[in-house]
Amino acid sequence: MLEVGHLSVRYGAVEALTDVSLSIAAGETVALLGANGAGKTTLLRTLSGLVNPVSGAMTVAAKNIAALSAESRVQMGLVHVPERRRIFGGLTVEENLKVAASAWAGLNADISPDLKGVYAFLPRLDERRDQRGWSLSGGEQQMLAIGRALMARPKVLLLDEPSLGLAPKIALDVFARIADIASRGVTVLVVEQNTALALKVATRGYVLETGRIVAAGTSAALLSDPKVREAYLGRS
Ligand SMILES: Nc1ncnc2c1ncn2[C@@H]1O[C@H](COP(=O)(O)OP(=O)(O)OP(=O)(O)O)[C@@H](O)[C@H]1O
Ligand SMILES: [Mg+2]
Repeated sequence: MLEVGHLSVRYGAVEALTDVSLSIAAGETVALLGANGAGKTTLLRTLSGLVNPVSGAMTVAAKNIAALSAESRVQMGLVHVPERRRIFGGLTVEENLKVAASAWAGLNADISPDLKGVYAFLPRLDERRDQRGWSLSGGEQQMLAIGRALMARPKVLLLDEPSLGLAPKIALDVFARIADIASRGVTVLVVEQNTALALKVATRGYVLETGRIVAAGTSAALLSDPKVREAYLGRS
């Protein structure tokens, strides 16, 4: 469903990604792990068309996406939930959700079934539908960012650190929702620094270190890998 081959990205003199390859089957949930500055966000931004790679290939459902605009990639179902949510603080919850339907809906399209679906799936958003984005808690903002992505009818969902800044219990809730989305057949690539949490939901993972993939495997294999344990799971 998602294939990345030998991808390299630079910001001026900074080599942010070097020869990164990964592959995700339809319906799979895969974690992308790594410390601060490893290149995780860069990979998601390159996939969604916000950053141009120096070299390498990217396909979604065997279609080359490298030449497509960011907007066209959303339209084909590649949807990005960015780092720190990036919701519209001045818009209400419902306005934030409606805006996202423009990925597929023309001006006169009826988006109410999609809205209803999101409210049923994330009832907290229903309760808060007339509140402004800025007035939501961190967990509610993350749920809104996820709800907004669902409004775009994703086939592949890219999530950038959905647990960032959330209390552990709220982070668990967010990941439970991500697992629900995956169980509906959406392919998920989730960037996380909370390795233990991510590998509970993902079946496989990749570890990025200074722009290179240094480890890959099933969640069970990564969790028992001494190098991964030491670097990302503390000493426990
Ligand atoms: N717009 C930019 N211009 C220049 N350098 C950048 C830019 N964005 C990121 N970088 C650099 O690229 C490297 C990878 O950054 P990136 O944000 O992709 O890492 P990350 O793994 O998402 O980190 P974090 O966990 O802190 O979010 C870092 O060295 C970072 O400083
Ligand atoms: Mg990042």
